[in-house]
Amino acid sequence: MEPLLNIEDLSVDYTHGGMEIPAVRQVSLAVAARESVGIVGESGSGKTQVFMAAMGLLAANAAVRGRVRFEGGDILGVGAESLNRVRGSKLTMVFQDPMTSLTPHLTIGTQLAEVLVCHAGRSWREARNAARHMLDRVRVPEPERRMSQYPHELSGGLRQRVMIGMSLLCEPLLVIADEPTTALDVTVQAHIIDLLGTMRRELGMALVLISHDLGVVAGLTDRILVMYAGRIVESAGAAELFQQARHPYTAELLKCIPSLTGPRQQRMPTLLGQPPRPGDPDEGCAFAPRCARAAPRCRTVRPPLEDAGGSAHRVACHFPLPS
Ligand SMILES: Nc1ncnc2c1ncn2[C@@H]1O[C@H](COP(=O)(O)OP(=O)(O)OP(=O)(O)O)[C@@H](O)[C@H]1O
Ligand SMILES: [Mg+2]
Repeated sequence: MEPLLNIEDLSVDYTHGGMEIPAVRQVSLAVAARESVGIVGESGSGKTQVFMAAMGLLAANAAVRGRVRFEGGDILGVGAESLNRVRGSKLTMVFQDPMTSLTPHLTIGTQLAEVLVCHAGRSWREARNAARHMLDRVRVPEPERRMSQYPHELSGGLRQRVMIGMSLLCEPLLVIADEPTTALDVTVQAHIIDLLGTMRRELGMALVLISHDLGVVAGLTDRILVMYAGRIVESAGAAELFQQARHPYTAELLKCIPSLTGPRQQRMPTLLGQPPRPGDPDEGCAFAPRCARAAPRCRTVRPPLEDAGGSAHRVACHFPLPS
């Protein structure tokens, strides 16, 4: 059976200042119905662009190649009208900054209700009732009062709850949450992650959770994909990845999870070196210049990648870490 979301050989290139910036390179990934998948990787590794491409939300200076299918139908390159049949209803996205994702001059109630009026053909009265109910479900206190408030009147955490509620209004099959907690106070982050987990259990939708932070995705996802320099370098079950990383880059990311124990200078380790820059040669393993295990052929040969999916490993490393 075809997975719910099937991305095949997706590449995104930007042209900026006369330069070509390869943001996503030949990414293939699949998300099954009800599955929860984490996407991790350093800033600039292409995590957001993969899903912006899938949602048809790329900037005008982007060129995209490949295939994206949702519920068996192509959604890449189709017109806005066809895309809007799934986007915003069956396939939704929660962004990092809830302040910029909400419209500042519309009340919370109007913004939520509008989703149901536009995507589900509900009357305004029905839509407002459903919106109030959703605010309650995503644990926004005093939902009636919040309905008539504007985004700036809510705290960051409450705004993100509203955004999550908005993404769930049409009972989506897949929610893509892109760094949903990064803009929030650390004390609020855990509540939002907890809310996403609860809503997923209650509504049974599939979830893609994008984050820099392996710790954040670990508890909430079944499978984790690791991206580096626009490519997926490893895919594994969440528990498996923590027990046994197969790619040196993943192993380094795991070392970067902050710890409260050990000598103070080792509690927040950082990854050494920089990812490749646009214009650097695209040969061999992109991580080789930063990799302690790299051998001469790592810089020239890139092994063919096998299909990701289920708990199958997908390792683009000549010398996987020993078991
Ligand atoms: N409009 C644009 N014009 C040019 N380059 C862009 C544009 N948008 C994104 N890029 C480039 O695409 C690459 C991948 O960006 P992307 O936003 O997917 O990274 P990310 O992994 O989501 O990073 P972060 O963790 O910081 O959100 C980056 O090198 C970025 O500079
Ligand atoms: Mg991003």
